[in-house]
Amino acid sequence: MDSLLLLFVSLAFSLVVLIVKRRSKATLSDPQNELKNVKKAEAADFRYPTVQPLVDFDFDKTQPPPYRPFKWGPVYFISITMAIRPMEFTEWIELDNQFRSYHRIRSHRVATKGTDAVRTLPARDGVPSGALAAKELVHELSEYLSRRYPHVYRVERKPAQKDDFGWYNEGEIKTIEIIPIGVTYDLERDDPMTISGLLIQDDLALMLEGKDGRYYFQAGSVCTPGFWRIKDKIGLPLDEIHTRGNVPQYESKLQNSLAKFFQKMRVDKPVTRNNYFFQIVRDQSDERRVDSIDPDELAWSETTNGDEDAWDHSNQRADPTPPATKPENVRFRTERQSLRRLPRSGAIVFTVRTYLEPIVKLAQEPGVPGRMAAAIRSWPPDVAL
Ligand code: HEM
Repeated sequence: MDSLLLLFVSLAFSLVVLIVKRRSKATLSDPQNELKNVKKAEAADFRYPTVQPLVDFDFDKTQPPPYRPFKWGPVYFISITMAIRPMEFTEWIELDNQFRSYHRIRSHRVATKGTDAVRTLPARDGVPSGALAAKELVHELSEYLSRRYPHVYRVERKPAQKDDFGWYNEGEIKTIEIIPIGVTYDLERDDPMTISGLLIQDDLALMLEGKDGRYYFQAGSVCTPGFWRIKDKIGLPLDEIHTRGNVPQYESKLQNSLAKFFQKMRVDKPVTRNNYFFQIVRDQSDERRVDSIDPDELAWSETTNGDEDAWDHSNQRADPTPPATKPENVRFRTERQSLRRLPRSGAIVFTVRTYLEPIVKLAQEPGVPGRMAAAIRSWPPDVAL
């Protein structure tokens, strides 16, 4: 009897050891899962920081910030880097006195381009749908904007319910009005990705993690990209978005750090970055400028890139870009980008606000022409192309 008991105890012990070993092996051999669990725990602990209201914000007078993202020095552009810096949550979205014009251009793109401006993809093998993230995003934006710019946005809420999309248990937002332009969006009725792109001046991309650990572009509102089209990029993982666009030095300098950054990005650590390039626009005397809602070609840079519908993504442009005939026809095009992980869907939201300014204006700013010239001189040949 004793030996039978001993046998039973030792069998049970072996079984326990086996299960524990299996478990720890499963966790150890699956870092992807481990990371997902850490991210889930972080998201559950996330408490929305207080958004500081900009009570003095003037919708018609606030100038866009003069982003000049080049430093002094001949070897500044030694290599491409992620060039990201931490962002205060309260500074997520910036508005300025160009809102009316951007809203007109963006609404026109939505009306005329349809899914070539706004798209949300369903789930497919190993990649989640963009729909939940899109819904979360429109609520995140509405919550944030109505607190940050209380004189610009007005919201109506529903009674609070468990697990709704409302912040601080105040109830979920039902409608949001952009007061100065008299437009109201219904968050229950209207397409979330479309509303998100019309609430702000920025383009938006939602990146969702696939089973392979890569981040896929599953939903977006891309109304003012100028140099790329949503139809060439939607559904692609982050690396292919960049490699298919021949972003210089991407594979050698950016790909690995970017993939790691996306995997590890935390809900409470948003970041921002700026870039810049140049664009040629139509001459002031060109009759196509007259009555145009987008005379400087913010939505699509036709003078630089040629016809949007005939544009060849792989070759970028069949004809060489025509040289600018006058400095007055050159624009400095700079973007303020931000990245945030959304707590519920785990999606990463990428915002891109584009600013277009005459290069002749920058030429008059103290110190700027010298810094810009030094930066351009230090471009390696593949960047200068
Ligand atoms: C920290 C994150 C990111 C970094 C460091 C980065 C870096 C870059 C760089 C260096 C370029 C070349 C032009 C420039 O200087 O901006 C570029 C282009 C581009 N990026 Fe990113 N990127 C990031 C995130 C994203 C995300 C999330 C998307 C999602 C849609 C995206 C879409 C694009 C597109 C469409 C282009 C233009 C490519 C083309 O011309 O075909 N990027 N990016």
